[in-house]
Amino acid sequence: MNDRLRLGVNIDHVATIRNARGGAHPDPIRAAVLAAEAGADGITAHLREDRRHISDADIERLGMEIDLPLNLEMAATDEMLEIALRHRPFAACIVPEKREERTTEGGLDAAGGHNHLARFVRDMGNADIRVSLFIEPDPIQVAAAAQLGAPVIELHVGAYCDAEDEAAKELHYQRIVDAAERADQLGLECHAGHGISFETVGPIAAIPSLMELNIGHFLIGEAIYVGLADTIKEMRRRMDVARAIAVTERAS
Ligand code: PXP
Repeated sequence: MNDRLRLGVNIDHVATIRNARGGAHPDPIRAAVLAAEAGADGITAHLREDRRHISDADIERLGMEIDLPLNLEMAATDEMLEIALRHRPFAACIVPEKREERTTEGGLDAAGGHNHLARFVRDMGNADIRVSLFIEPDPIQVAAAAQLGAPVIELHVGAYCDAEDEAAKELHYQRIVDAAERADQLGLECHAGHGISFETVGPIAAIPSLMELNIGHFLIGEAIYVGLADTIKEMRRRMDVARAIAVTERAS
């Protein structure tokens, strides 16, 4: 079990607020600087095809002005591949993207989309970009990601985070635990993201083979009340506490 779980802070929704008025405020890059100071291990930004939040200029500035590793979330399109190869972020996470959706509503079909995805995994891997595939916690998808040669998967944990009753929560949680374990057996580095809040981060952080969580919407929303730095520090604290308890329990 890895003692320290990395926290990637997704700054998309700072850009969402900026774009609501079309000006330069609030600046997502300033949020990235604050996130770094507050204990984030990386910055995540999704350059959507419709540019509804993060812009091309944001990606350029993140590369130039921020020291933390950048995780570029992107659809598997030629345009995004060209941008990734030009900017060479530390990491790229391939996500499914539909224009009509409000957010990334499900995982990639790594199994069904094998032929399409293979080129993206290969070309970005050859450029030394750490490629991950955002997939549902489903053993078929985990196996498909391994077959594609992706070094990393990110499990979509939205169904767990959004589940309203205990039985559904338990079911979705077990799926995440099983998928993370399978990924570990297959030699994949495993991350998790989508919908994580103060309430749901503890159980997720306790899953031994997870190495990184990517969190955005909740952090930016909570920051309205208590500020971004304090929100990130509290998320970091909850992750660390849950991880430390899990480590102790496994050792005893
Ligand atoms: N990881 C991936 C791959 C995502 O697409 C998203 C949403 O953009 C997140 C993490 C962050 O999810 P949330 O904003 O719900 O915390």
